[in-house]
Amino acid sequence: MQHMTPEQLTDEVVGRLEATPDERLREVMQALVRHLHAFATEVQLTDEEWLTGIRFLTDTGQKCDDVRQEFVLLSDTLGLSSLVDLINHADVEGLATEPTILGPFYVPESPWRENGDSIVEYEDGGEPTVLRGTVKDEVGAPIAGAVVDIWHNAATGFYAVQQPGVQPPTNLRGRFRTDADGRYEVRTVRPVPYPIPADGPVGQLLRDTGRHEWRAAHIHAKVSADGFQPLTTHVFDRESDYLDSDTVFGVKGSLMADFVPGPDGVLVCEHDFVLARE
Ligand code: BEZ
Ligand code: FE
Repeated sequence: MQHMTPEQLTDEVVGRLEATPDERLREVMQALVRHLHAFATEVQLTDEEWLTGIRFLTDTGQKCDDVRQEFVLLSDTLGLSSLVDLINHADVEGLATEPTILGPFYVPESPWRENGDSIVEYEDGGEPTVLRGTVKDEVGAPIAGAVVDIWHNAATGFYAVQQPGVQPPTNLRGRFRTDADGRYEVRTVRPVPYPIPADGPVGQLLRDTGRHEWRAAHIHAKVSADGFQPLTTHVFDRESDYLDSDTVFGVKGSLMADFVPGPDGVLVCEHDFVLARE
């Protein structure tokens, strides 16, 4: 009797999945098996390496709790989150603002604020900054009543959700509604680069592969308006470190903005968001 080859084994597993009643699940699982087998064959995965991989995934799962999602962090640092974002939100005409990843520090239901209000609820330094601009459609018409949901980190590098009992939970977060001219305006402090949580298996993997754990400085924004596709994006500080090596591959050239000195020594970042119609 002939010995089984890797190709025969792959075909047998793929064939067994042929009975999957859900068409999409069948397509995804068969492709997953083909790629997984091709990967193991390409690197000639040893018994020991297979076990190391199983232990790594086990540790990753065990690091997860209600607020820590180590698997998402793994997906982010492997560029998978950004790839899924590109696949699902690519704007072929390239007119709308480019999206980027949501990240783990988004908290829904931020307080509503008036245009020009400050989102700083806790003083711990940072360069005073005004972020302002227009929300418009792809032909440049302003969108009144759009919601601009903003969150970012403090000058210490931490988001409010990372420092319960230190920062108030709504510090450096707020929802703004554009005025009749589509304008929004947020008073805040300049964001700073920060390390992603690196005390778990993903942090160890970054170190083992000679990578750092830093994100370039950015302000997160979720922008929405009736009749338009919702946008999840960042405003990157063009002067930040790590723009060319952001550890979660979130940087896109079009998302960089200047923070320029304005009156009273306050930095001004003028940044428009362009929404695509539904
Ligand atoms: C963030 O930008 O908040 C973020 C994104 C991915 C991993 C960690 C943090
Ligand atoms: Fe962030």
